[in-house]
Amino acid sequence: MTATLSPLPTQGTPAPERGSYWITTFGCQMNKADSERMAGILEAMGYRAAAGEFEADLVLYNTCTIRDNAEQKVYSYLGRQAQRKRANPNLTLVVAGCVAQQEGEALLRRVPELDLVMGPQHANRLDSLLARVEQGQQVVATEENHILEDITTARRDSRVCAWVNVIYGCNERCTYCVVPAVRGREQSRLPEAIRLEMEGLAARGFREITLLGQNIDAYGRDLPGITPEGRRQHTLTDLLHQVHNVEGIERIRFATSHPRYFTERLIEACADLPKVCEHFHIPFQSGDDEVLRAMARGYTVERYRRIIDRIRERMPDAAISADVIVAFPGETDAQYRRTLALIEAIGFDQVNTAAYSPRPNTPAADWPDQLPETVKVERLQELNALVERTARARSARYLGRVEEVLVEGGNPKDPAQVMGRTRTNRLTFFAAGDGRGGSFRAGDLVKVRIEEIRAFSLSGRAEPT
Ligand code: SAH
Ligand code: SF4
Ligand code: F3S
Repeated sequence: MTATLSPLPTQGTPAPERGSYWITTFGCQMNKADSERMAGILEAMGYRAAAGEFEADLVLYNTCTIRDNAEQKVYSYLGRQAQRKRANPNLTLVVAGCVAQQEGEALLRRVPELDLVMGPQHANRLDSLLARVEQGQQVVATEENHILEDITTARRDSRVCAWVNVIYGCNERCTYCVVPAVRGREQSRLPEAIRLEMEGLAARGFREITLLGQNIDAYGRDLPGITPEGRRQHTLTDLLHQVHNVEGIERIRFATSHPRYFTERLIEACADLPKVCEHFHIPFQSGDDEVLRAMARGYTVERYRRIIDRIRERMPDAAISADVIVAFPGETDAQYRRTLALIEAIGFDQVNTAAYSPRPNTPAADWPDQLPETVKVERLQELNALVERTARARSARYLGRVEEVLVEGGNPKDPAQVMGRTRTNRLTFFAAGDGRGGSFRAGDLVKVRIEEIRAFSLSGRAEPT
């Protein structure tokens, strides 16, 4: 657990000029959140954002190793920077994130030009690690680390939506997954620290918060405290109640949910608390009980279906998204077809799909019944086509309806439009003009009549006010 509350950022003496930095982020929202905090640290140290990757004085790759192709991408990026460094020894090269944690010292052998290799638990210590680099050391920071409360101000990519970590790490042991090995044990932040961060974000104009954890339903189980009724004092449900009334924050989301720990109380809280959006990201991974058992997921398809039924009883319009893996070792055609059937039966709004990729130091990687690449490609293609069809069918329900959209910014492909999301997380585009001579801006909540649908996005027109 994270023990102490952070002091508020102080307005100290200005930091020295240190050149420019560039961060490329791979992987999930945790990495994006870490990158924003690391960018904040670099700016506090006196670095400024570079115009491009090949002009920067410091390049940081925040890496992902969830599947082999994610890991390989990093090596090709690093190759080009290593070459640049041979011509320009003053370049500082940093590899952070999950490949850094997985490979550690081995990365230095593979890319000797690196200055710093740092695991995700060290993100908040970037400044002290760089201080050692400045003294001429080559640094590897991958030891298990108690994550410090973040005392810097993150440099956020959005001015409207922000991620707030509530629990780091994962104690599950899904047999395919590297995350527990690279992100370490669960460490929950204290509710007071989370609330304080949200209040700070609200004061700076943020309107939407996504609470983050690899297994967010585990929130609080490493914190002490039992209620008089004999239940854990700190749970995600309690946290939602504690942070719900932060003034200025209009929407709250959370991810990622685990079907094994998803509770009835949580569904009630989501239905009762108006700022909590009707969108649930609950990966199911497979539609077959035997495969789920081999994955060590700890639930059945029946339980998963009951959770979704219950959500829809309380919130009929809720959007449901998920992650799924096909071609897990030994998955038969019949088992794979059960995954397709579940997608059809539930009618998902969005599904992140992947073919199984064996990962170092995970049990399933050593199993003998690995499936050939051709089966992986075939299943993934058929699956993706189904996911798109299902998403389009779900989009159809919006046609003609008026939805509340939180504007996030301009449409990069059409300057005459703005874009934002519905409460159910559908990306929505509409004309930027507000009909009174002005234009909508990031942070506006706008009622939009939906006139056009696509599988994963909508277009419409702002309702006259
Ligand atoms: N904590 C989340 C998922 C984190 S990883 C959960 O429990 O659902 C994000 C997604 O990557 C997973 O949901 C899974 O679908 C996919 N994934 C993880 N390991 C994988 C592997 N070895 N091969 C293919 N996909 C994988
Ligand atoms: Fe990986 Fe399972 Fe933890 Fe999710 S719950 S991060 S899939 S080990
Ligand atoms: Fe990738 Fe690490 Fe996230 S492996 S998916 S960046 S936790």
